[in-house]
Amino acid sequence: MYAIPFNRPGVRGNEHTYMTQALASGHISGDGEFTRRCHRFLEQHLGVEKALLTTSCTHALEMAALLLDIAPGDEVIVPSFTFASCVNAFMLRGARPVFSDIRLDTLNLDEARLEGLVTPRTKAIVVVHYAGVGAEMDTIQAVARRHGVAVVEDNAHGLFGRYRGRPLGTFGIFSALSFHETKNVSCGEGGALLINDIRYVERAEILREKGTDRSRFFRGQVDKYSWVDIGSSYLPSDLLAAFLLAQLEARDTIQASRRRIWEYYYQHLEPLACERRLRLPVVPPHCDQAYHMFYLVLPSREQRQAMIERLKARGILSVFHYLPLHLSPMGASFGGKAGDCPVTEDISGRLLRLPFYNDLSEAQQAHVVAAVAETVEAWARDRAMT
Ligand SMILES: Cc1ncc(COP(=O)(O)O)c(C=O)c1O
Repeated sequence: MYAIPFNRPGVRGNEHTYMTQALASGHISGDGEFTRRCHRFLEQHLGVEKALLTTSCTHALEMAALLLDIAPGDEVIVPSFTFASCVNAFMLRGARPVFSDIRLDTLNLDEARLEGLVTPRTKAIVVVHYAGVGAEMDTIQAVARRHGVAVVEDNAHGLFGRYRGRPLGTFGIFSALSFHETKNVSCGEGGALLINDIRYVERAEILREKGTDRSRFFRGQVDKYSWVDIGSSYLPSDLLAAFLLAQLEARDTIQASRRRIWEYYYQHLEPLACERRLRLPVVPPHCDQAYHMFYLVLPSREQRQAMIERLKARGILSVFHYLPLHLSPMGASFGGKAGDCPVTEDISGRLLRLPFYNDLSEAQQAHVVAAVAETVEAWARDRAMT
């Protein structure tokens, strides 16, 4: 047990009340009243054509791959610095992943390399807004349009973030949200598919309901429902939607807390960054970030490991993040090799995430900051002695 864990789920208001109401209503399977209210909330607050809750971000990405009719022989471009779900969703349909490197500043897909990765087989570009800071959508969309390729946003980190004033999740034809325990707004496990092109809505509802037109049946549009397409079961229980709605409704206080936490870390660690002893996150002025996480980039892999150990000795859990996908056993089986994505390979070994959750107190943060500063000072002393 850590005195300061990396993440701790919290409640913000009406979670218990809404779950009790869902139970009392006698409807706790999918697509009940609370699911509908979550859909409306997301559609209205983000300005998307359609939001559909799913059991995870992973499943929302799988739905995107199904909706795009991804098939063997297709290629999908993904950053190597991301979660396996971004690739798996498309490989389940038979696609081949093409790994892109990331930008050194925001750690988002390097848009300058994108055009060089597109081939006549490219069917989609998957964009991740790392740490809730928008990827360079102007260039990415221009490349996608030029080649007639779909853009899918994996917005697991970026709910309520904006790029040039426009909400993240509204750029791609589809985007996927995560409500996993570690996310700003959570229901333990959950996600959503956001659909920005209305032509896909009806099929999305069918794929999500085991390939049946049950959604239309429940709306009274057909007198019986039948099996009309392939599909799976991607809808979460209304109990989870009840929990989620309470969190969504508390969005302003959640985001304000996270902003305070992020800014505290930034302000108190900035002196170390100015002395070039570590690097802090970069948020370009045209991006309103989602305050999803706070990371440091340390001078070396060894120093990152030493920092993890020293924080651990002080009861603080800090964690690293993605290992390069192109170098993983699966990535290597597609020909990925060292040197393909140099920025990913370098950053992946040096990045460290600090504890970050809605109820993290300033006293706890002060403890984390002191432990980081103390570790950096110890390195300076060691260097002076050698
Ligand atoms: C970029 C990214 N995409 C997808 C996921 C998977 O989300 P979920 O657990 O909701 O499937 C994660 C996990 O945190 C992630 O970081």
